[in-house]
Amino acid sequence: MAIDVEAVRRQTRGVLSVVHLNHAGSSLVSRPVMDAVVGHLRREEEIGGYEAAEEAADRLEGVYSSVARLIGAGPNEIALAENGSRAWAMAVYSFPFVPRSRLLIGHTEYAGNVLALRQLARRNDLQIVVLDDDPHGQVDVAHLQRELDRGNVAMVALTHVPMANGLVNPAAEVGRRCRAAGVLFVLDACQSVGQMPLDVQALGCDVLAGTGRKFLRGPRGTAFLYVRASILERLEPAMLDGHSAVPAGAEGFEVRGDARRFESWETSAAGRLGLGRAVDYALALGLDVVQERVVGLAEQLRCALAAVPAVTVHDRGINRCGIVTFSVKGSDARNLRTWLADRRINVSVAPAPSTQVDAVLTGTGQGPDMVVRASVHYYNTETEIQRLVGFLRGTS
Ligand SMILES: Cc1ncc(COP(=O)(O)O)c(C=O)c1O
Repeated sequence: MAIDVEAVRRQTRGVLSVVHLNHAGSSLVSRPVMDAVVGHLRREEEIGGYEAAEEAADRLEGVYSSVARLIGAGPNEIALAENGSRAWAMAVYSFPFVPRSRLLIGHTEYAGNVLALRQLARRNDLQIVVLDDDPHGQVDVAHLQRELDRGNVAMVALTHVPMANGLVNPAAEVGRRCRAAGVLFVLDACQSVGQMPLDVQALGCDVLAGTGRKFLRGPRGTAFLYVRASILERLEPAMLDGHSAVPAGAEGFEVRGDARRFESWETSAAGRLGLGRAVDYALALGLDVVQERVVGLAEQLRCALAAVPAVTVHDRGINRCGIVTFSVKGSDARNLRTWLADRRINVSVAPAPSTQVDAVLTGTGQGPDMVVRASVHYYNTETEIQRLVGFLRGTS
């Protein structure tokens, strides 16, 4: 069933104030999500934090089942975290690396992940190999295959949807090849979760990290991690506490058996409940219809932008998503963002797709060229898109 856009907008207070085109940054949360968060904070105020968590125990437990359903996993394979980077790192830092093995990454790997991998590479004497892009700007699976065939690969890390490129990397194809080679596949789904269906079986990933505040429309400070049950035992968390392990014998400890071994004890229960509500909201709409509308609106925006003489659209890839990147001749991206914000249109800026990786990986210290990133979601309207394009037409 198609999305009732008017109904979801009625549940999104922010649309009354702004044209929000920054879902790749952080979405406007829906009223049910806000109610879940604020309702729990009120209970903490009224009866105490621990007592409120006890009262909400079933609902808190339900968050794991909701996230599991979202990505086709089991609840025991889900950990909750405070951000996508930490979720990703908790699994990756726990991997028992063999010195002198190789890490394969995509050209558009998230910059924060690259820094973490560099640290791991330095600590464990690993080599990072950056896979080529194919002619469409996606990860080149032929190059991946050649590197897998060469052997000595500890891990393949891929960002499903780069933060500023509009493309969707062929993750399932990467997963298939990693499985065939028996190599661990880590997928950063922070920008894809919430805007398209994800299924960890179809994707073939062993680890997947997602963040709450972007296309999932959850509260800030929420995220989740998936770790395939069959590899959990191999990944001893880099850090432990009284939630992730229990004492065993006089000097030992036993790490818990499920993915919650990657969590820490103290957390925001309100945030978790908000995340769970956001996941349920997305599931109720249906991720396939969400994707259809997001892709349609983004394509509409790209076409309208391309018709403005001074505008260049930078998105690449065969399969595209809700992220649209562009520049306006003679205008600095940051100034343009501020100028649009003054007109109550929220966009963000990001490194241009062509320079992003070079800037991160060559360490030249040179700032990359910046582009404007407008990221749409299902509750945006055609009128909002025309409003953005109309302003840009006026500047050119
Ligand atoms: C592709 C990608 N991965 C990971 C992250 C990090 O997520 P978080 O900010 O929740 O740590 C981001 C954030 O922008 C991202 O775009």
